[in-house]
Amino acid sequence: MAVFSMKQLLTIVLSALMVSLSHGRVNPSFKIKAVNLGGWLVTEGWIKPSLFDGIPNKDFLDGTGLQFKSVKVGKYLCAELGGGTIVVANRTSASGWETFRLWRINETHFNFRVFNKQFVGLDTSGNRTDVVAISSTTGRSETFEIVKNSNDSSRVRIKASNGFFLQVKTEELVTADYAGDSTWGDDDPSVFVLGISGRLQGEFQVANGYGPKLAPQVMREHWRTFIVEKDFMFISENGLNAVRIPVGWWIASDPAPPKPYVGGSLQALDNAFSWAEKYKLNVVIDLHAAPGSQNGFEHSSSRDGSQEWGLTDATIQQTVDSPSLYAVELINEPLAPGATLDSVTKYYKAGYNAVRKHSSSAYVVMSNRLGPAEPRELFPLASGLNGTVIDVHYYNLFSDIFNNMTVQQNIDFIHTNRSAQLNYVTTSNGPLTFVGEWVAEWQVSGATKEDYQRFGKAQLEVYGRATFGWAYWTLKNVNNHWSLEWMINNGYIKL
Ligand SMILES: *[C@@H]1O[C@H](CO)[C@@H](O)[C@H](O)[C@H]1NC(C)=O
Ligand SMILES: *[C@@H]1O[C@H](CO)[C@@H](O)[C@H](O)[C@H]1NC(C)=O
Ligand SMILES: *[C@@H]1O[C@H](CO)[C@@H](O)[C@H](O)[C@H]1NC(C)=O
Ligand SMILES: *[C@@H]1O[C@H](CO)[C@@H](O)[C@H](O)[C@H]1NC(C)=O
Ligand SMILES: *[C@@H]1O[C@H](CO)[C@@H](O)[C@H](O)[C@H]1NC(C)=O
Ligand SMILES: *[C@@H]1O[C@H](CO)[C@@H](O)[C@H](O)[C@H]1NC(C)=O
Ligand SMILES: *[C@@H]1O[C@H](CO)[C@@H](O)[C@H](O)[C@H]1NC(C)=O
Repeated sequence: MAVFSMKQLLTIVLSALMVSLSHGRVNPSFKIKAVNLGGWLVTEGWIKPSLFDGIPNKDFLDGTGLQFKSVKVGKYLCAELGGGTIVVANRTSASGWETFRLWRINETHFNFRVFNKQFVGLDTSGNRTDVVAISSTTGRSETFEIVKNSNDSSRVRIKASNGFFLQVKTEELVTADYAGDSTWGDDDPSVFVLGISGRLQGEFQVANGYGPKLAPQVMREHWRTFIVEKDFMFISENGLNAVRIPVGWWIASDPAPPKPYVGGSLQALDNAFSWAEKYKLNVVIDLHAAPGSQNGFEHSSSRDGSQEWGLTDATIQQTVDSPSLYAVELINEPLAPGATLDSVTKYYKAGYNAVRKHSSSAYVVMSNRLGPAEPRELFPLASGLNGTVIDVHYYNLFSDIFNNMTVQQNIDFIHTNRSAQLNYVTTSNGPLTFVGEWVAEWQVSGATKEDYQRFGKAQLEVYGRATFGWAYWTLKNVNNHWSLEWMINNGYIKL
């Protein structure tokens, strides 16, 4: 992973922000009412799907999970034991070991990563060329071309680096030695029915999908048009006083970030600072995507769903020289147990010191871990440092407990349960509290406008008690309720 420093970013950001820093600080009871600028400098496909439209072979992006059913034996390819040994074709159903995650080289050529993170490759040590999943790195042997049937894109053949196609000789023997064309019939041992299980549509996928020629122009156009000056005017005129801006770690090495990332997002951020200053808005910078991905989600720019951040000191060290302004959120949603309390604490300590080297006044925001974690676990650390904030994210989503809730139950949950949770982390001597992400969306179907209004109002009421403030997720989104702009313009939310 490329070494990087956030010093350059810090310098630009700090000089731009010194002015807007002071907007709220005169009043000690000032709270931010913010909106997230999601999907802008860190891509999330579901926020703006059209961003992916022009990618050649856009079904096959990094992290897409492919499953291959041999037409000849009628069973799925499988990395035996999840990886580390041979590839077989003897499974009647497909799940983790039968899923091959793509690393895209270009629109036709790929590496396949298996459950235990090895790559599929060739073993030529005997007198056959066997297909195995043993290498932890990629090279020529781990490179495959996926050839689709031009009449039926659910049928594919896989060509290996030796020029031959993979074939299922028997359920327990998969080799790379099938020569020549196919009639794509059910008797052909080199033909597979393709299944797709899971996709990622984050920054890595969009940038690598377009590739080095197209990505720079597509991304710069997106940054230039998705969030513009008049959005800042809209924000300031509608009762908000801040923005939370997710950024990715690669912005620090702008204008020449490591591949496949594209330079230019720092300029967009710089514009955001000028607009913030002009419209008297505070800025919370949020490191949403850390090197290696802190949670394996597309919104942290995971390449293939793996979570590597925090596994080594190197990935932590790479992130500590962080930028500052009204507030700096050191990392967003590290996921337990992969991100351990120990690694997160170490990182927050180093990050806090890095920010304090540059600013004594900027708040330092620490995101609580997702997953099985105690909500006050950062208190021992945060309480010993001044100007710290704990960020909690409250969605009535992403958990089975919300599946069958009615409108009223959702609203009661805010007044009772969220209120109790927020009280629990809001203490007089502890860190300030920030509901850094929430949305007026739920699992209820067929809810009326008035239902949404009541739900939004309940959340504003409860989250308004957070001592640092709150931020709606997000300003713009093709899904209306996730777009605060739409919610305000259509009278669903009034601030
Ligand atoms: C795609 O990558 C493969 C493997 O590196 C290479 O052989 C091929 O020429 C590339 N194709 C294009 C269109 O660049
Ligand atoms: C390949 O090697 C195996 C033993 O490893 C041997 O039994 C077989 O005859 C060999 N086949 C050929 C075609 O050389
Ligand atoms: C596709 O269908 C056409 C017309 O039926 C046929 O001539 C052609 O061989 C088919 N191609 C493949 C790759 O199956
Ligand atoms: C598939 O083949 C491997 C290798 O021979 C064997 O160890 C495994 O038990 C087989 N699994 C099934 C489900 O048949
Ligand atoms: C931390 O405390 C010092 C000393 O009281 C104060 O000068 C500084 O502004 C505080 N920083 C923050 C971020 O509150
Ligand atoms: C939700 O309701 C469905 C049927 O109405 C039921 O099968 C399911 O168990 C319920 N789920 C929960 C989490 O209560
Ligand atoms: C919400 O809080 C109430 C009161 O403490 C409790 O009885 C209920 O189980 C909680 N609901 C959920 C879904 O956790």
